[in-house]
Amino acid sequence: MTEFEMIAKTFQGLEEILAKELIDLGANGVAIGNRMVSFKGDKALMYKANFHLRTAIRILKPFLHFKADSADEVYDICRKVDWEKYMDLSDSFAVDSVVYSEDFRHSKFVAYRVKDAIADYFRDKYGKRPNVSVANPDLTFHIHISHDDCSLSLDSSGESLHKRGYRQEAMEAPLNEVLAAGMILMSGWDGKSDFVDPMCGSGTIPIEAALIARNMAPGLFRSHFAFEKWKDFDRDLFEEIYNDDSAEREFEFTIKGYDKDPKAILTAKRNAKAAGLLDTIQFEQRDFKDFEPVKERTVIITNPPYGERLVEDNLLGLYEMIGERLKHALIGGEAWIISYHYECFDKIGLKPSAKIPLFNGALPCELRKYEIFDGRYNDFRGGDKRLKKDDLPTRRSSTLRHKARLAEKEEARKADMTENSEFKRERPARKPSDRKPFRKDGERSFHKPEGGKPFRKSSDGKKPFHKNSEGKKPFRKSENKPFRNNKK
Ligand SMILES: C[S@@+](CC[C@H](N)C(=O)[O-])C[C@H]1O[C@@H](n2cnc3c(N)ncnc32)[C@H](O)[C@@H]1O
Repeated sequence: MTEFEMIAKTFQGLEEILAKELIDLGANGVAIGNRMVSFKGDKALMYKANFHLRTAIRILKPFLHFKADSADEVYDICRKVDWEKYMDLSDSFAVDSVVYSEDFRHSKFVAYRVKDAIADYFRDKYGKRPNVSVANPDLTFHIHISHDDCSLSLDSSGESLHKRGYRQEAMEAPLNEVLAAGMILMSGWDGKSDFVDPMCGSGTIPIEAALIARNMAPGLFRSHFAFEKWKDFDRDLFEEIYNDDSAEREFEFTIKGYDKDPKAILTAKRNAKAAGLLDTIQFEQRDFKDFEPVKERTVIITNPPYGERLVEDNLLGLYEMIGERLKHALIGGEAWIISYHYECFDKIGLKPSAKIPLFNGALPCELRKYEIFDGRYNDFRGGDKRLKKDDLPTRRSSTLRHKARLAEKEEARKADMTENSEFKRERPARKPSDRKPFRKDGERSFHKPEGGKPFRKSSDGKKPFHKNSEGKKPFRKSENKPFRNNKK
């Protein structure tokens, strides 16, 4: 099969882990960019990228590169494209745009001009134009402009790939699935030890961990990928990829998800059930303060409240408790914690062995690694004694909404003036815009439940991907849907 260029888009901070995933998948010419990785491969690789990548949010297939310095010039060039190679008059379409150029002031206007060019192409030929659909287009085209370099691509994914299809419900502030998977892959956890998320909310981290542990493709539960409506869609090839479970493996350790909120545990269980992972993950309502010492080597990866979307009565106290529990109950293990405020990390009171900048939506966060060594409490900053305020490194203040923050505000203000602020060395100043809540645009609409029902649930309610009598997964049968809307 012929190879072509592709772009995998991701979140800032996950580019390297995505590049590694692509190399493992067999991609050629892998090159890391800003929030994207470019690569080369054939049609099978494009299907696999959509189906197997855990840290990509979409896969684009560029088909035209050109130079232009105005929206009208873009129109003229797009008007000459043979659009019937990609779509028919009866197909609905949408155009997205990303513009980094002073010559193009409005990215939406560029998208309108590409839409006009497509509509005019068909109108000239057939006297009719195809429909534009924002909500559910058959095809989505992307125009990317950097200075005067323009690229037109087809979006092979459709809905963002973080929408795995297993999420039945979400609690407040769920972690994006792509970010959760990225954190687990970055930690190096590969299913060869016990795993706990002690503040699991709707269960995203334990579910992604279970998918990784069993080497199950994150695309298993999606009902549709955009490439299924492409003119050149190779159904047999995709079926083969979809039904190949030869790399899936047994998992011999335990994955646990705890949360103090009983509603969170119910939600997590529903989501895990939809992913057929209820037998792989143990969920239990439990406060982290009651976390018992682990007997086997354990990795914790967790996303505690930051006090941004989830307001906690005693946020700093919560982080102090986290540090205390890790120190006493995770001996010989490691913990990876993503958070937003340095004040929170400080309260953990342990020395991190790694600090990785990551964005959680619009929030510039950090993923910190804590290795808990047996009996070597000197590794803990402050040892067994509680941290005094004077022990805190001087940092620039951040706008913590929580009341407890007020008590430290004056100190933070002084720290702000300190020339050698650690904060300044580690992270550029935050802009007011950084502090917005998650945007609810197409790619980040994970406040809402996806509502997608698992389409391969078995009658025994256990595994949605059980095999039928021929040893095949039943999904490709027409009554089991994903191809139901495919006209081609
Ligand atoms: C940011 S949310 C986690 C979201 C989760 N990663 C998801 O994807 O849905 C933080 C969770 O910590 C839980 N939590 C807060 N304090 C806790 C405690 N002391 N023990 C256990 N869970 C706690 C909250 O109930 C909430 O569900």
